[in-house]
Amino acid sequence: MTAISIAFTLNGSPVSVDVDSAERLLDTLRYRLGLTGTKEGCGEGECGACTVHLDGLPVDSCLVPTYQVRGRRVDTVESLDPPALEPFARGGATQCGACTPGVVMTAWWIRDHPELLGTHTLRELMAGNLCRCTGYDGIVDSIGAVLGERGSA
Ligand code: FES
Ligand code: FES
Repeated sequence: MTAISIAFTLNGSPVSVDVDSAERLLDTLRYRLGLTGTKEGCGEGECGACTVHLDGLPVDSCLVPTYQVRGRRVDTVESLDPPALEPFARGGATQCGACTPGVVMTAWWIRDHPELLGTHTLRELMAGNLCRCTGYDGIVDSIGAVLGERGSA
């Protein structure tokens, strides 16, 4: 495959990386840039484990060719302060943990856009993040705690 050079903003800092022309953003983040917080589940856009923010919107990084992020802003779970993750550790939102980084990234998108809760329920907004372990109650409760701590629940 042809190697191409891609420059973009990652977690607030400029990066430049050589990637294969058909490479997925998920693989660039994990295997070229060492950001292994973003997980692979299904690899086909169904589970949300690989969720990152692209220009502030949650996307499945397994479906995004890296060349498409040229000049754009990508934020991963590593951009969040560890204390921001505490509600998920406390609230029974995590068992195996495979879904958690993606859940957290979607949760932070909701936190930054509380107006979404005027037209959608939390469970509707989280529908793109599947969890095979928790039954979702702990996840929803933890996100509610995050929103409450910000005064937007
Ligand atoms: S790994 Fe990307 S949606 Fe499942
Ligand atoms: S905690 Fe295991 S998939 Fe969600």
